[in-house]
Amino acid sequence: MTETTIAPDVAALDAADPLAPFRDRFHLREGLIYLDGNSLGALPKATVGRLAEVIGGEWGEGLITSWLGAQWSTAPRRIGDKIGRLIGAKAGEIVATDSTSVNIFKAITAALSLRRDRSVILSETTNFPTDIYMMQGVEAFSGGRVKAVTVAPDDIVAALTDDVAVLLLTQVHYKSGRVRDMAEITRAAHEAGALIVWDLSHSAGAIPVDLNGANADFAVGCGYKYLNGGPGAPAYLFAASRHHRAAPVLSGWFGHARPFAFEEDYDPAAGIERFQCGTPPVLGLSALEVGIDLILEADMSEIRRKSLALGDLFIERMTPLCDAYGFALASVRDHAERGSQVAYAHLQGYQIVQALKEYDVIADFRAPDILRFGLTPLYLRYADIIETVRRIERVCVTRAWDKPQYHQRAAVT
Ligand SMILES: Cc1ncc(COP(=O)(O)O)c(C=O)c1O
Repeated sequence: MTETTIAPDVAALDAADPLAPFRDRFHLREGLIYLDGNSLGALPKATVGRLAEVIGGEWGEGLITSWLGAQWSTAPRRIGDKIGRLIGAKAGEIVATDSTSVNIFKAITAALSLRRDRSVILSETTNFPTDIYMMQGVEAFSGGRVKAVTVAPDDIVAALTDDVAVLLLTQVHYKSGRVRDMAEITRAAHEAGALIVWDLSHSAGAIPVDLNGANADFAVGCGYKYLNGGPGAPAYLFAASRHHRAAPVLSGWFGHARPFAFEEDYDPAAGIERFQCGTPPVLGLSALEVGIDLILEADMSEIRRKSLALGDLFIERMTPLCDAYGFALASVRDHAERGSQVAYAHLQGYQIVQALKEYDVIADFRAPDILRFGLTPLYLRYADIIETVRRIERVCVTRAWDKPQYHQRAAVT
């Protein structure tokens, strides 16, 4: 923090922060303010050594014997159980596997297999696109049996008619960060006779989640965001134990009851293992496990408390910039409905996010006009928030965003 004098009250908040020691467990370049942990979490320092060990020792030396010797074959279930401790699942209800998109396919088709008399997969129009695309793919494949329906975000409960088989919702909205009431919506879905699939990509590791407390049916989520599992980390799938009889459509050999019996016919494993498909990605799982072990050391309620405090501070300090430079808060202020990010709408949002990189602030942009600032309490300081707002102001004052190169949209925003 070289560029500014930090207000004493903020310095005191950092000094008293019980999560402050976690920052040093991550690799973060000096001077950089990283506000994109909701897209790709920072690198835990321990991941580097762990991957070297897995590659050099377990793979290099152990070779194929490591499937048993280094417990590679049970990693999806072992890591799933650890994720379960963060989101209120019992042991044996989660596997770490595949991508979130693939897990959405598996969860909605499993739910459909439990509601054969119903035809609708329901979601909301502003859900993360892959969720909707996967629904549309299932509809196209079903040959008329299934219909993908989306309604306005606030019309979800009213749209739970008696033909809805499964409701697919993201708990924390990827743009606004708005949090949905998991218990209340799950109850409404069940009362209407539907099952529910929760996308927890922006929830796990960011806010306390209690899947079984809410009586959820299925859930999925990303490993590379708040779980700090690394780029393209394996995702996870939760199926409540009462649904382990659901027939997986992706009937790969790693979901078979006896994969190494090489039998001719598919016979799904009795438990959560049936939701695996192919060979587990060991390197990705090894990195993911380090990220999860790290977050399990922290107190989730402390993470939530600090996340909200960081958000409050950010919103407060941004208020003068909203009036002066045209930012509009796109997140809710209310704690009950705010996840671990703060979003602003701005006509030059894309250019401002690009220009902020010159000032060593990484945030991201979501079309058409949203600047997203991810708040990750394990490695962000209160002082970073103050400094971020100063740098945003500097980008606005200097019009650094108005350079020709920032008017050209890159492929990844
Ligand atoms: C809510 C949500 N679901 C799913 C995904 C993407 O899932 P994947 O790329 O792992 O399939 C994202 C990515 O940002 C997301 O925000």
